[in-house]
Amino acid sequence: MTGTYDVLLARLTSAFDAVAVGADPVLRPSERSDYQSNGVMALAKSQGVNPREMAERVLAGLDLADVADVEVAGPGFLNLTLTTAFLDAQLRELVDDDRLGVGRLEGRVAVIDYSAPNVAKEMHVGHLRSTVIGDALVRMYRFRGYRVIARNHVGDWGTPFGMLIEHLLDLGEEEAIASLSIGDLDGFYRAARTKFDADDAFKERSRARVVALQGGDPETRRLWRLLVDESVAYFSEVYAALDVTLTPADVVGESFYNPMLDEVVADLARAGLLVESGGALCVFPEGFTNRDGEPLPLIVRKSDEGFGYAATDLAAVRDRVANLHADEMLYVVGAPQGQHFEMVFAVARAAGWLPESVRCEHVAFGNVLGPDRKMFKSRSGETVKLIGLLDEARDRAEAALALRSSSLTTQERHELATQIARAAIKYADLSTDRSRDYVFDLDRMIAFEGDTGPYLQYAHARLRSIFRRLDDGFDAHAVHFVLAESAERDLALGILAFPEALDAAIATLHPHRLAGYLFDLAQRFTAFYEACPVLSAPEPSKGERLALCELTARTLSLGLSLLGIEAPEQM
Ligand code: ARG
Repeated sequence: MTGTYDVLLARLTSAFDAVAVGADPVLRPSERSDYQSNGVMALAKSQGVNPREMAERVLAGLDLADVADVEVAGPGFLNLTLTTAFLDAQLRELVDDDRLGVGRLEGRVAVIDYSAPNVAKEMHVGHLRSTVIGDALVRMYRFRGYRVIARNHVGDWGTPFGMLIEHLLDLGEEEAIASLSIGDLDGFYRAARTKFDADDAFKERSRARVVALQGGDPETRRLWRLLVDESVAYFSEVYAALDVTLTPADVVGESFYNPMLDEVVADLARAGLLVESGGALCVFPEGFTNRDGEPLPLIVRKSDEGFGYAATDLAAVRDRVANLHADEMLYVVGAPQGQHFEMVFAVARAAGWLPESVRCEHVAFGNVLGPDRKMFKSRSGETVKLIGLLDEARDRAEAALALRSSSLTTQERHELATQIARAAIKYADLSTDRSRDYVFDLDRMIAFEGDTGPYLQYAHARLRSIFRRLDDGFDAHAVHFVLAESAERDLALGILAFPEALDAAIATLHPHRLAGYLFDLAQRFTAFYEACPVLSAPEPSKGERLALCELTARTLSLGLSLLGIEAPEQM
């Protein structure tokens, strides 16, 4: 089916086009009527015509099928009200549509790079944001029909591995594995670092070990594998606890690109882009300068002949276009790496690896702040462990649930508290504009009121409870939507706006567009529920209202699932 918004947009677009090709009607849902088009003013200005006069011209060319009323307001707004017959037809199509009006794209491949923690290092809150935002994008893209290839670009290569392997040997393999598998990654890393800084002999051994690792020495490779595998096993536990779709198969770390780096250099040399500077091989992409206005290098190979972070990302772009056939590439990484990605993309384009037709975006995000509005740290000043946050949220949810009288068993309550805790943490992240910082405030996140994950879960569970209290069956197919009450109509328009909300979230790569939509829908439902009794209403109102409730519940549940949030049946 074609969504309500799209139908209207198509008609308006052709009416605007008739006046000036390509003019944007700027269509939005509106409070006063069903939709409002705000494009007349810009069009009037560009044509040098009085706006109200322009409104009349557009209207003259507008196909008014399904439009019950159109009014020119203010300086040229077009307020449009749809016919109830049209809304009825649209809603009835949703009854049997498990996609709730969302079309399915064919044949597009998206590579989404997210999470990307570092081996033998704790995942910090920055990785939490990347993981949560990236996973929501993965789910939205998959649902929309993309073939999504997730890439967990873990930091599994580089000079620190010399000291990490030597430290592992000092501890003995068994002990080292034990300490990593309890998740004390930072402790392990810190101990290695301390020795490296204090002990020259250890430093020498570490250096030699890096050389052995790069040279492919089998025993060294085996020890390196061990470190990587233990860390990945730990990350997988975190993903499972968070209910994130990443699997070990998605781990394609920096080391994967090693064999491609010589070709990267060769390609760049052939394209005439490589410049030697202080022994290092660099590219100076156009348009990048430092504070003094000097050209900024992207270092491909360091003066010690080692390859760095940038080389790996260049190889990754090349691989993802040439071998994975990506139509879109997303990098869900913190805002401080903005310049890195801009430079990598610029060099990749200059080298001919990245055609203009491929959408390539750094999906940047801001910081998580503590209550003091500084970077979020634990009391002792260390990075905060994700698992610890989740446990704390679950304990609070469990305590809150225990206060309510309910028929849940201890086991069920624990499971429900886990779902609420995940919803609280994920939704708080996903509902703020990702480019902004946000304060990590567990009390606010976990509240059942306000713009929170648990509130949306609760709205959904409340809807489901209506159906549990229904004695006789109900068949949504038999329903005709007459939408006599304005609260019914508002709820209906909310339900019908789901496809455009999802498309907006995908087009802008802003999951908060979907989160905001769901919150708005839940509020429309609350207003409806206050104004319109459901179970006690006489037929045919009762059937119609039940059908609206069912569509709302399905929309909330599907929408939340696309954000990676579960929608329990009962709370
Ligand atoms: N491991 C890096 C970090 O912790 C993030 C990697 C992001 N992805 C990429 N393709 N560079 O900062």
